[in-house]
Amino acid sequence: MNVLGIETTCDETAAAIVSPGEDGRGLIRANEVLSQIAEHAAYGGVVPEIAARAHVEVLDRLIARALETAGMRLADLDGIAVAAGPGLIGGVLIGLVTAKTLSLVARRPLVAVNHLEAHALTARLTDGLAFPYLLLLASGGHTQLVAVKGVGEYVRLGTTIDDAIGEAFDKVAKLLGLGYPGGPEVERMAEAGDPERFALPRPMLGRREANFSLSGLKTALRIEAERIAPLAERDVADLCAGFQAAVVDVVVDRLRVALRGFGAVAGHPTALVAAGGVSANGAIRRALAAQAGQAGLAFVAPPLALCGDNGAMIAWAGLERLRLGLVDDLTAPARARWPFAEAPAA
Ligand code: KG4
Ligand code: ZN
Repeated sequence: MNVLGIETTCDETAAAIVSPGEDGRGLIRANEVLSQIAEHAAYGGVVPEIAARAHVEVLDRLIARALETAGMRLADLDGIAVAAGPGLIGGVLIGLVTAKTLSLVARRPLVAVNHLEAHALTARLTDGLAFPYLLLLASGGHTQLVAVKGVGEYVRLGTTIDDAIGEAFDKVAKLLGLGYPGGPEVERMAEAGDPERFALPRPMLGRREANFSLSGLKTALRIEAERIAPLAERDVADLCAGFQAAVVDVVVDRLRVALRGFGAVAGHPTALVAAGGVSANGAIRRALAAQAGQAGLAFVAPPLALCGDNGAMIAWAGLERLRLGLVDDLTAPARARWPFAEAPAA
């Protein structure tokens, strides 16, 4: 079974082909990603109109290249999966219309995949992980703690009430005059910084629900930055280190709460899983690995290339759905918003 996956929800154009591999894992036959970061950098964030145009320009060639890398033709595919949302609607439409056209021409089933679900299932692509597991999904637009019980069965244990973690990293980077996207820049600066120089808050610490709040931390950092301006490189490094340390403390505390609540909704987890762009962060990965170890759980985080947005995760989620007969037709809508996890039953 070979599934093509198309991703155009944000600022990466991606196409990949995945087949079932050994031990329940997936086999990535091709994984092409073209990042638009350079086109958005001057604006300090993703510009939806520029993103949509850039997707149109490269997507067909990228799909052709994925087929070529895999040594396949359209007829060798068993399904066409596409991220139908959530995301920037212009980009989502381009991916979806392309996927529908291919589905029609090649007479292969279309699978409209939720981009967040694809991040959530990546640990099965890479590690063949069994359900259920506790997922920290942290990207530029989303921060959720989710009990992943099965394909299409996701219970939300916590979420952010303001900024997503990646968004907070991006905003802090912007505030400190670092580049976009901010996460990797803040992490790089933090390496040389003193995390204890500034007393930054740990919002939500000790709360009984596994929710996040990050805007207060960002504001506290801004106030410190303004107080000591102009900032020397040392100051920026210390602010980044302080911010990252605060985020790590908050994540660990929120996960502790989610782990406590997991049993009631899904039984015993097989692992703690990190997904989404933020899971590329080394400090967060190390803290999660240590925490999983203490809880006697395996820790699974995708390799860096599969942390951010990519086509392989879309192809894999499509493959998982296709195996269960969960296919879509040509009326599948593009969705700017598309929650994937349900609140727990009261
Ligand atoms: O999943 P993703 O590639 O795209 C979205 O769906 O949002 O996540 C991108 C986000 C950005 O906010 C970026 O700053 C953040 O992930 N990110 C990081 C790191 N690498 C990427 N945040 C913290 N540390 C990193 N090393
Ligand atoms: Zn993403």
